[in-house]
Amino acid sequence: MTASILDGRKLAGSIEESLRAEVATFAGVVGRAPRLVVVLVGEMAASASYVKSKADAAARVGIDADVVRVTAGTTTQALVKLIHEIASEADRPADGILVQLPLPNHIDTTAVLDAVPADRDVDGFHPENAGLLSQGRPRFIPCTAAGVQRMLLAAEIETAGKHAVIIGRSDIVGKPLALLLASRGPGGDATVTLCHSRSANLPALTRQADILVAAVGRPQMVTAEMVKPGAVVVDVGINRIASEGKPGGRLVGDVDFAAVAPVAGWISPVPGGVGPLTVAMLLSNTLLAAELRLGSRAPRQT
Ligand code: GUN
Repeated sequence: MTASILDGRKLAGSIEESLRAEVATFAGVVGRAPRLVVVLVGEMAASASYVKSKADAAARVGIDADVVRVTAGTTTQALVKLIHEIASEADRPADGILVQLPLPNHIDTTAVLDAVPADRDVDGFHPENAGLLSQGRPRFIPCTAAGVQRMLLAAEIETAGKHAVIIGRSDIVGKPLALLLASRGPGGDATVTLCHSRSANLPALTRQADILVAAVGRPQMVTAEMVKPGAVVVDVGINRIASEGKPGGRLVGDVDFAAVAPVAGWISPVPGGVGPLTVAMLLSNTLLAAELRLGSRAPRQT
């Protein structure tokens, strides 16, 4: 068996195409484009590259995106103040505000993320949005988790009654994805196991998975022996590893793609899998934020 590829780049392209039309409709009615402000702290190359991808994608669909750069030596208080200032700009309202993570160690990340008003929290990290998702009435769904579910839906992969095993319990991916896959309705109704660094006998758990999602940030940790033949394998990891002849190294996921592809039924590549969908879901959340602010869209129903 060789797995079919879950092509995130192609799917993100078609999502962007629909969003471009919806954004144009919004701008036509409201007289301005939706606006996203991204706060980028420090000089981490990976963060700068993700932020550039987000801003470039926003431009492609007609969303105004501004990147506010802050030096790594900033303080928690200064960042909280900056976010309050961005949120109170009246002449150019920020519909969505995103703080790129990770923040430097001396910053209180929770305090900074909590400063983003819940109705502009396009990352879905605010406790109010996390609470709404946990109650099955989501507003902004964290982008990577939403992207994984969208990928499964687009490939018409049945989730109802299936056993989904997620490796990684982060607030950004693992936890919200567990909630989404266990929620009622299309792309949900799965039985979910959420594994983490203290899970005993991880391979025995992952081998039970009809749908296996790796979201731990450990290069190529999912090996062929951990995968049930025919399983759907979704790789959320983006890790840079040393590679002969490539000075900047190369990107690999949390899954050993070459070893797992012959065993799996479906597999998402890195790059070109979940990453582009994360960005597409951010654009979708930004449009939703703009529409909700102006009362032109009812909140999502469960
Ligand atoms: N860093 C890695 N993933 C994410 C994400 O989804 N949102 C933000 N803000 N930072 C990240």
